[in-house]
Amino acid sequence: MIAGRLLAWYDLHGRKDLPWQHPRTPYRVWLSEIMLQQTQVATVIGYFERFVAALPDLPSLAAAPQDDVLALWAGLGYYSRARNLHRAAKLCIERHGGELPRDIAALSDLPGIGRSTAGAILAQAFGLRHPILDGNVKRVLSRYHGVHGWAGATRTAEILWAHAEANTPNERLADYTQAIMDLGATLCARSRPRCDACPLKEDCVARRDGLTVLLPTKKAP
Ligand code: ADE
Repeated sequence: MIAGRLLAWYDLHGRKDLPWQHPRTPYRVWLSEIMLQQTQVATVIGYFERFVAALPDLPSLAAAPQDDVLALWAGLGYYSRARNLHRAAKLCIERHGGELPRDIAALSDLPGIGRSTAGAILAQAFGLRHPILDGNVKRVLSRYHGVHGWAGATRTAEILWAHAEANTPNERLADYTQAIMDLGATLCARSRPRCDACPLKEDCVARRDGLTVLLPTKKAP
């Protein structure tokens, strides 16, 4: 099991002072995950703090004029994220009593929330046992388990999701989720991974076989 080693590593080296961790409300976790979909943590922090200062909860986001939401997003790019966020907030008012649903199907039905983002929200905001598989986690799992094949291919994605599911612990879901994303964002980098410092190095297949440069497999041209 990799969870125990990841959690021990997280306790020593993980990020525990991110603004969406204090307080860790479902709304704040959701907003952070949408911002982090295409933007790095260091950039997101300032935008996140400005956004929640202006719109501190889901009802205030749902009631805000779209121009205000887009103005708070200005500079982050990928503006469809902001439009989807706003639509999803209104749908939560209509369908879910003004709160984010705790159910994976209902949550991933909302605009802008795919399977991995839904899992990340449920694990971090509610401590529910759901796997995640974003770009960073795909890299960690492809290497650790030695999964070849482009992650955009259905069969490869199924294998990676099965590993993600099997690795997910029953406890400390928020920390585990943050830990595996942090590992992918830091040590298990795309180029020049720092395997010496990795908590999973003993049984990482890519490291054993000298394949870290080849995994994850790139899309065939
Ligand atoms: N990418 C997506 N979600 C993230 C998170 N919570 N921490 C770091 N990187 C992320």
